[in-house]
Amino acid sequence: MKITAMTQDEQKKLAGTHAVDSLVERGLIRSGMKIGLGTGSTAIHGVKRLAELIQAGKLTDVRAVVTSFQTGIACEDWGIPVYSLNARGIAGTLDLTIDGADEIDGENRLIKGGGAALLREKIAAYNSKRFVVIADESKFVKHLGTAFALPVEAVEEARTSVAARLAELGAVCTLREGVRKAGPVITDSGNIILDCLWKEPVDSAALEKDINAIVGVVENGFFTQNRPLVFGARSDGTVFER
Ligand code: A5P
Repeated sequence: MKITAMTQDEQKKLAGTHAVDSLVERGLIRSGMKIGLGTGSTAIHGVKRLAELIQAGKLTDVRAVVTSFQTGIACEDWGIPVYSLNARGIAGTLDLTIDGADEIDGENRLIKGGGAALLREKIAAYNSKRFVVIADESKFVKHLGTAFALPVEAVEEARTSVAARLAELGAVCTLREGVRKAGPVITDSGNIILDCLWKEPVDSAALEKDINAIVGVVENGFFTQNRPLVFGARSDGTVFER
């Protein structure tokens, strides 16, 4: 019998569904929890599975904090109650956040922000007791920042000065342009994105701090703190965890 390899979209769905089911089974996702919900075409599968378990009554009183308009709309459509991270019942901390990633290195350091939601994603991830990432096999890399460009969210007024400082840090930067919209992408928080590539492997933990020290930078897409538990799906239909 011929076995057909899973497409990337099928792998994303497998990773998201398997991760949520496995976390629920192990009691790491429970009723009453405060859960951060990431953004993107992989995270949405985790959100969907969570919604199914809520609709089936297997999880109750789950309070979600979303990281983008996109995920907020999905929660409205699927009946997941959404709160602000500042709401009294949330008080700035989450039990668990589940999200996708653009690149994952061998030590589970990440690049995120391909969907320009890095700021709210990092606020959720870094204020969560447990951080979970779900991904298809294409996201696993040896080094961060040499293939997928690091998104840096900056205030528009500082576009040129921030780009110059990033160039001093060895990055080649491109202003992210909108699709079917003239001019740059404007993030959910009203800022621009500079996508930065390096020619050689970099020290992502040091750069995460150095980039954020540039005046006018709001956040960057290196996620090197609060290392996640990662669920990856392969094209042969298997799932691994690390
Ligand atoms: C959104 O800004 C990102 O951080 C996403 O989590 C990341 O780009 C992964 O997206 P996909 O799951 O759509 O590949």
